[in-house]
Amino acid sequence: MEWVIRFLCFFFYLLLIHMLITGLLAAPDEEQLNLYVVYLEDMVNKDSLHLEDDDDVIIDQLHIHILASVKLSENEARKSILYSYTWSFNAFAAKLSKDEVDKLMEMDQVLSVYPNRHYQLQTTKSWDFIGLPQTAKRNLEAESNIIVGLLDTGITPESESFQDTGFGPPPTKWKGSCKHYVNFSGCNNKLIGARYFHVEGNYDPNDIISPVDVIGHGTHTSSTAVGNAVANASLYGLANGTARGAVPSARVAVYKVCWASSSCSDVNILAGFDAAIHDGVDVLSISVGGFKENYSVDSIAIGSFHALKKGIITVAAAGNSGPSLASLCNHAPWLVTVAASGINRQFRSTVELGNGKTVSGIGIDAFDLEKKLYPLISGAEAANSNDVDSARYCLPESLDPEKVKGKLVYCRLKKWGVDSVVKGIGGVGTIVESDQSYDTAEIFMAPGTVVNSSDGNTITSYINSTRKPLAVIYKSQELEVPAPFIGSFSSRGPNPGSKHILKPDIAAPGVDILAAFTPLASLTGLEGDTQFSKFTIMSGTSMACPHVAGVAAYVKSFHPSWSPAAIKSAILTSATPMSRRMDRFAEFSYGVGQVNPHGAVSPGLVYDTDQMGYIQFLCHEGYKGSSLAVIVGSKSINCSSLIPGFGYDALNYPTMQVKLNNDKQPTTAIFRRTVTNVGAPVSAYSATVKAPSGVEISVKPMSLSFSHNRQIQSFTVVVKANPMPASTLVLSGSLVWKSPRHVIRTPIVLYHAKKA
Ligand SMILES: *[C@@H]1O[C@H](CO)[C@@H](O)[C@H](O)[C@H]1NC(C)=O
Ligand SMILES: *[C@@H]1O[C@H](CO)[C@@H](O)[C@H](O)[C@H]1NC(C)=O
Ligand SMILES: *[C@@H]1O[C@H](CO)[C@@H](O)[C@H](O)[C@H]1NC(C)=O
Ligand SMILES: *[C@@H]1O[C@H](CO)[C@@H](O)[C@H](O)[C@H]1NC(C)=O
Ligand SMILES: *[C@@H]1O[C@H](CO)[C@@H](O)[C@H](O)[C@H]1NC(C)=O
Ligand SMILES: *[C@@H]1O[C@H](CO)[C@@H](O)[C@H](O)[C@H]1NC(C)=O
Ligand SMILES: *[C@@H]1O[C@H](CO)[C@@H](O)[C@H](O)[C@H]1NC(C)=O
Repeated sequence: MEWVIRFLCFFFYLLLIHMLITGLLAAPDEEQLNLYVVYLEDMVNKDSLHLEDDDDVIIDQLHIHILASVKLSENEARKSILYSYTWSFNAFAAKLSKDEVDKLMEMDQVLSVYPNRHYQLQTTKSWDFIGLPQTAKRNLEAESNIIVGLLDTGITPESESFQDTGFGPPPTKWKGSCKHYVNFSGCNNKLIGARYFHVEGNYDPNDIISPVDVIGHGTHTSSTAVGNAVANASLYGLANGTARGAVPSARVAVYKVCWASSSCSDVNILAGFDAAIHDGVDVLSISVGGFKENYSVDSIAIGSFHALKKGIITVAAAGNSGPSLASLCNHAPWLVTVAASGINRQFRSTVELGNGKTVSGIGIDAFDLEKKLYPLISGAEAANSNDVDSARYCLPESLDPEKVKGKLVYCRLKKWGVDSVVKGIGGVGTIVESDQSYDTAEIFMAPGTVVNSSDGNTITSYINSTRKPLAVIYKSQELEVPAPFIGSFSSRGPNPGSKHILKPDIAAPGVDILAAFTPLASLTGLEGDTQFSKFTIMSGTSMACPHVAGVAAYVKSFHPSWSPAAIKSAILTSATPMSRRMDRFAEFSYGVGQVNPHGAVSPGLVYDTDQMGYIQFLCHEGYKGSSLAVIVGSKSINCSSLIPGFGYDALNYPTMQVKLNNDKQPTTAIFRRTVTNVGAPVSAYSATVKAPSGVEISVKPMSLSFSHNRQIQSFTVVVKANPMPASTLVLSGSLVWKSPRHVIRTPIVLYHAKKA
């Protein structure tokens, strides 16, 4: 799929190579042992027993004991157990047969057993663009006590973004560690923690067995969230300016759970959560995703629920599977799910043809070509065999080096990397035609750009019109474009899990973002690429996620005692609305709109909730027995004996979503909400409602008054919709609570499930 950013292609490329090397593509062995995570009751984890690190042994013994009851012996158990999760939750990873899985599932202490799966990893200017200038108000002392943890591909400790000039020692609450690792120059007072987890142990020659980032993704996301301000950063002069995170004085801790050899798997993600929660991070950022299933089989949903219990907010990427509907992952309501928006710049190159015509392509091309014009040939004409179709797409081995030498080659897009193919056989560069609209800039390892079909036609008819076609591609330049918009790759709602919860929650910059990079990877990862840079440009919801994680840290630096739900509410209700005109999927693309760091610090009111609120929600959604127990870490919760969650969605969520009945019947939904006063002690708010046509929205009461801080008030929202044609995609309404100083906005979204 063409929207996939180059990075992902690179990633899968490495994965495939590794599988070929290690023979994973060959037949499995007779025993059919697969890797599983076995979840146990939370009660006996080390944090709750106040045990020291060295007391691992006690719980490990327990795990071996449990496993030994289904394996032949304790020895067998010891051999097949790969990892014990002992800090923040109670689980182990082991190689098991189907039969052993069944036996374990029947055991009393076991909550659930599920197979290990693999997840995908899904700027100088972006902070200014969303209203957090370098001069923004900051709470420096509190900020330096904030620790942001990232579960990613590791980090580059040498990067200027993570130097510790001016930093004091880590906050005293910090329990994490950083050891001497191979090829890892070490932690400091900025980068205070680094660990790596590779439970499977099947390392690839491309991996370095340490928290060092050989891919660049984790370095990029970490510097976006918490990087120091680094002046004069650029990618070969492009996007130049000061690169920085939201909270440059905060600390960073990195948990390497994604590897060249095996992407990011459940067993490693869980180990990252287990450690980060124990270590004492304040905010977690995870730019990884891949599954849409329910929460009880999703290690990111489970890990982040355990984080929530310790007051840690988790921010996650919505996924890069857009623009199709219901394509998003990481949709649990205790996560902040982030879509990727574009800022007001694009990187484009001018292509000049021999006849004087010019067209404009998108992409990052850092090359200054020497000659005025070069011979131009189409891939089809340069075919080395009868397989003209492969040559049209300039696929590897399809082109004749003799015909390509010294020329620019015109290729249709099927796979990224044709620049490497052309350059590798002596060509100068490529003009790539794509019939999909492109909003992100690919980096080219040789002169290159991407043009649309109509410009493609201009080029092919020119090639046809002359015996000696000529062209040149100029180095890319920054162009101003209307913004914000949502990247076409950004995953869309509606929520594939909970029908009554709007997802994504919010949008943040994730298109063409400049941030720190690793010196260990070339910019494209393609064969023959000799471009290296301390900063590079990447696109994806992976880049949007750390923007919101950074904002969560920024909010926390002003309000250290706020719960994850309060911080999330502050970020959501203060967002800058986005326009339906920019995106026909509206809230399913951007949630509440663009993140607004300045507004998030003083929301006035928050929709707060605690762990029990989410449990009541889960009960309402039909989770029970082991599928509830595995999320909350305990079997002792009995939904029937709980006070039920109130209202249509059974959760005090900062947005509202209504699934319409069929097209013949009207729909009614009653939402119950409470808001907590975090603004001036004495204050008054009044409600303003916007309802789409055919929908009636009423609020009771229409005004709220408060006399003290932390005071809680309740209200009810009734949404009544006429029967709607089944073609109704998404209808947008809103409820706004206003005081002279604050605006608290809640989108109210209605949709037909049939369409989605
Ligand atoms: C990592 O360290 C080893 C041994 O010190 C060295 O041989 C290797 O070249 C280093 N790798 C990188 C990528 O720096
Ligand atoms: C900024 O970087 C460019 C190239 O990387 C360099 O030529 C220039 O001198 C730098 N400017 C400052 C002010 O450091
Ligand atoms: C970026 O570089 C251009 C050209 O070198 C310069 O005019 C501009 O001021 C720079 N912008 C920033 C933000 O440094
Ligand atoms: C193709 O791109 C050009 C910019 O080079 C633009 O003017 C034109 O509208 C685009 N055509 C289509 C069909 O998107
Ligand atoms: C150029 O010529 C090729 C084959 O000669 C033909 O298939 C193609 O349609 C022509 N393109 C244009 C735009 O005229
Ligand atoms: C979640 O998935 C599990 C495993 O497929 C299933 O047993 C459970 O019933 C599901 N729960 C809900 C609420 O859908
Ligand atoms: C859950 O609570 C209900 C009502 O209090 C009770 O009838 C039921 O037996 C309980 N179920 C379990 C599994 O304890």
